Amino acid sequence: MLPLNNVDLSNKTILEIGTGNGGTTRDILKYIKDFPTSRLITTDIVNRDLSAIVTQSVEFVKQEWKVSFIQTDACELKSILANSVDIIVVDYTICAINTITGKIPLCFSRWIEVMKPGGLLFIEEEFPITSQSDLKYIHWRRYWRLVKSLVITAGGSPYHEIDPKVLSMLLENYGFKVQQFEEGDTILEYQEIKQALQNHYSDWLPFIHNRWLRFTFRILKRQFLRQLKKNGGDGSLIIPYYSLSACLKE
Ligand SMILES: C[S@@+](CC[C@H](N)C(=O)[O-])C[C@H]1O[C@@H](n2cnc3c(N)ncnc32)[C@H](O)[C@@H]1O
Repeated sequence: MLPLNNVDLSNKTILEIGTGNGGTTRDILKYIKDFPTSRLITTDIVNRDLSAIVTQSVEFVKQEWKVSFIQTDACELKSILANSVDIIVVDYTICAINTITGKIPLCFSRWIEVMKPGGLLFIEEEFPITSQSDLKYIHWRRYWRLVKSLVITAGGSPYHEIDPKVLSMLLENYGFKVQQFEEGDTILEYQEIKQALQNHYSDWLPFIHNRWLRFTFRILKRQFLRQLKKNGGDGSLIIPYYSLSACLKE
């Protein structure tokens, strides 16, 4: 996520959308630990065990009172009052919300309702695979082609990453001014990729009823993992991402 260290967090209410496994939640807690009057509300459509996410953090005992979890859809944000949030953080979740066409504009309408004028929005996402043709991302593109094909074949709707230019234009339409934009690469280690693939396969393979298709997807997974280590590679994956911050006009 873009650093919050240039932002005065005193008396600020931060709303995280898409808790997931808590990677960003832990980062936010590190930023707010020096601001006793700030608080974090983290939300996800799926129930998440907050204690499991942050108990490893040494500061958690001190911070427990100022972090809470609400299970809610990002376009609903139930129990969040209008005009009550100073900062919204949404990392790697726009693509997940976007599995259902039309939900993103619904979210933006709700987010501007709960935000205070002048509030800040921080977003981080992977690029759409069609937008990055550099050879160094070849395995990342193959990874997502495999996972998306698996999900579609199983009858699901895969993640839809949004192009940052389109996202910025949409945000402007909803009254935000994009202030900062950064892009970069992040590395996923071999064991993490293997685990992530395994999770997708356990979630979706049971819904593919044709055994030849199941067999083919297993072969494709094996081939993909073998390719990652080909030519002496260490099996890691280079992932292109972008982050932006935007301010809600007063
Ligand atoms: C990739 S994870 C988030 C990762 C996390 N933000 C981080 O930085 O570690 C995406 C999350 O979005 C959640 N999600 C999907 N659709 C959602 C929706 N409509 N509203 C809220 N959360 C949603 C999923 O349950 C999942 O936990």
